[in-house]
Amino acid sequence: MPRNPDYNSIPAFHAKLARSRRILAVCGAGLSASSGLPTFRGAGGLWRNYEATALASPKAFKKDPGLVWMFYAYRRHMALKAKPNAGHYALAELARNNPEFLCLSQNVDNLHIRANHPPSQLRLLHGSLFTLKCSSPTCSHTEPENLNSPLCPALAAAAVDAPPPSSASASAPTEIHHHPLLDTANPLPTIPPASLPPASLPPASLPHCPRCTPPCSARACDMLAGVDEWIRRGRVDVVLVVGTSSLVWPAAGIAEAARGDSKRGKTSVVPVNVDAESPEGLVRLVEGEEDFAFGGDAAEVLPRLLEPVIGRWDMERGVFLK
Ligand code: OAD
Repeated sequence: MPRNPDYNSIPAFHAKLARSRRILAVCGAGLSASSGLPTFRGAGGLWRNYEATALASPKAFKKDPGLVWMFYAYRRHMALKAKPNAGHYALAELARNNPEFLCLSQNVDNLHIRANHPPSQLRLLHGSLFTLKCSSPTCSHTEPENLNSPLCPALAAAAVDAPPPSSASASAPTEIHHHPLLDTANPLPTIPPASLPPASLPPASLPHCPRCTPPCSARACDMLAGVDEWIRRGRVDVVLVVGTSSLVWPAAGIAEAARGDSKRGKTSVVPVNVDAESPEGLVRLVEGEEDFAFGGDAAEVLPRLLEPVIGRWDMERGVFLK
């Protein structure tokens, strides 16, 4: 049972917010779920028979760069098509209203930036899908804000919307849908990952570093710099843990690091997640006397939680009204 009997009361959270100055948010894929982007785990965590988590790693890239490039080319395409939702806008508005708010995000989809989140109050822990970085450890070549889709002819199939299955089956498949991994009109049967074929894209057809030979990959920069110092500077009043399974470090350890030791006073850790109020969610995260948990879609819950500071979200006009 949560130690705070009012753990899911919005008025109780608003009272805490009124006493709060230093606010931290740690965000994950669930924040972008209602923008139509898939999460990494659970429903939506599979991409063409592959676990998304098994592809999002340097090891997977080394083993089959063509396959990982297709996966990322598809995610780039999806992210470019998606729009920021009210949750992204609420966090950006909080930043404009409170210079003591810092947002850490594991999301690589660019939606915080497209929601005009002030860059000085945003740290993208896993970098961006749109920052290309040479995969060689000895090369520093980086290309920020590359929004090309497709990136090269070999990846064109990943950057095309497949027609819905009904119309696709009626028409002959186009050249662009020929790669079996990308032909979403013809679902692959589920087979064990070990039996899956390699992507078979010749390395020469993949994006290349203009300075050296290994294929480039989208890679993170070290965005954790300064976060520990920010946390140590004083008591963190509220940590919003938004749409993340909190399984991947460093994000997984940030809420507890911010809570610090008891001498620093009462930090509220506040998960905002569809499963935050499930029995497992409550056991895992609601430990402190002033912790909260709000189960629901982050795009709906965040604007309501932050309303006293940012105003009411006007869906029609896409603005906050004070
Ligand atoms: P996960 O897929 O692990 O977790 C997404 C979380 O969002 C889950 O806890 C869901 O319950 C929750 N969720 C789903 N829909 C939601 C919604 N509409 N509103 C609120 N919550 C919702 O994603 P992350 O925790 O972001 O790293 O994954 C962390 C990292 O694992 C990713 O950044 C990625 C992956 O390996 C890299 O690619 C380096």
